[in-house]
Amino acid sequence: MISQKMNDTLTLTGPDTDAGAVLRHYWHPAALSDELAGERPVVPVTLLGEQLVLFRDTDGKLGLIDRACPHRGADLCYGRLEDNGLRCPFHGWHFNRDGQCVEQPGEPADSKMHTRIKTTSYPVVEKNGIVFAYMGPGEPPAFPNFDCFRAPQTHVFAFKGLWQCNWLQAMEVGIDPAHASFLHRFLEDEDPQDSYGKQFRDTAADTDIPMTQLLREYTRPEISVEETTYGMRIIALRHLDNGKTHVRITNQIFPEAISIPMSREMIITQWHVPIDDENCYWYSMFTSFDKPVDKQRMREQRLQEHRLPDYAPIKNRHNNYGFNPQEQRQSTYTGMGLDINVHDQWAVESPGRITDRTKEHLGSTDVAIIKYRRMLRAAIENLKQGNTGALPMRSNTDPATIYGPISNDTIGDREHWQQAFTRSDTERRRACKDWDACVAQSS
Ligand code: FES
Ligand SMILES: [Fe+2]
Repeated sequence: MISQKMNDTLTLTGPDTDAGAVLRHYWHPAALSDELAGERPVVPVTLLGEQLVLFRDTDGKLGLIDRACPHRGADLCYGRLEDNGLRCPFHGWHFNRDGQCVEQPGEPADSKMHTRIKTTSYPVVEKNGIVFAYMGPGEPPAFPNFDCFRAPQTHVFAFKGLWQCNWLQAMEVGIDPAHASFLHRFLEDEDPQDSYGKQFRDTAADTDIPMTQLLREYTRPEISVEETTYGMRIIALRHLDNGKTHVRITNQIFPEAISIPMSREMIITQWHVPIDDENCYWYSMFTSFDKPVDKQRMREQRLQEHRLPDYAPIKNRHNNYGFNPQEQRQSTYTGMGLDINVHDQWAVESPGRITDRTKEHLGSTDVAIIKYRRMLRAAIENLKQGNTGALPMRSNTDPATIYGPISNDTIGDREHWQQAFTRSDTERRRACKDWDACVAQSS
């Protein structure tokens, strides 16, 4: 458990907060490219507690500026999309994508006042279906060479979903390898042939054991954590009865993302982005090392569970997450259906909007959570000392040299599990024909 003060320090991310200052040194997903695909590409974006508007101008370029008009505060989400920016419908002030006011049609013709009006604007970059924003000081960092950014757009599918809770508890579920044996337990194994686009429904590594069976039967993983250039590698070992060991490698990507295996074909890179202190979006990039991603199928699967335009889950606290006691007795551990996203959503939302960490009791399976909080605290301290270079991926390591990260499930001999996961990762990368997934040295 930690003090209330420390809980506030780690969780609050608005302007002028400690964790907020750390997060503002990184790129964050601001919207899906899909959200800008309609007739009028203008969407409200609330990120790290700041209310903004994202738009694609008539040149096809993106702008992300303050949502409130700097004249008298009208909502620029209703702005007229003209030329290279947005025009406020109230008095016609026009802002370009850098936030500069370029015209005030109601002011005297010779007025130069507009040259002195510049609203907040943040750099944005579109990568494989996600628009990323940088809201911090100075030059934004380079993007790491992760698989989700290196793969061509045909091999990456992006989606998002709303969780009504603080970003940190959402991220902490992703660095907790023990919960998969319980929260996502299925008492019956589905045919792995039906596993496309779903997590934990494939067979384990190169065996014919369904992942669901493996997770159900081996509930006490041995978990270890290694610090890396990008954050942490989390290793969960399940020692099987036949002398073999199942190895699951997942990652924390500093500050608020994770990278995990989904199936033999795909990995998931997922950000848990603060909307404000009590709400967050998960943004996922599903990256295929094999065939191009069937985006239509993946999208349809997820749209069955989410409502547009805010990507709010259809099962939520207002309908008890679809909880069915009979199902809980007979087929799933939660009684909340087969979509594991709903299970995770219940796990992160049910402690309350911001988990009261003064009352928690962390166990040995929470080792990655403990280490992550230490990393975040160290980053906060380093920033206070003005030592930006000590932050992960803001240091002297060139982000372009950071590959991977390895995210996989494999089975090897108990004594040689390290070689097993590097070998299976190398094989998967070599077999990837459609894009160059090989790395000289996986990190
Ligand atoms: S409030 Fe926007 S132009 Fe007046
Ligand atoms: Fe989960």
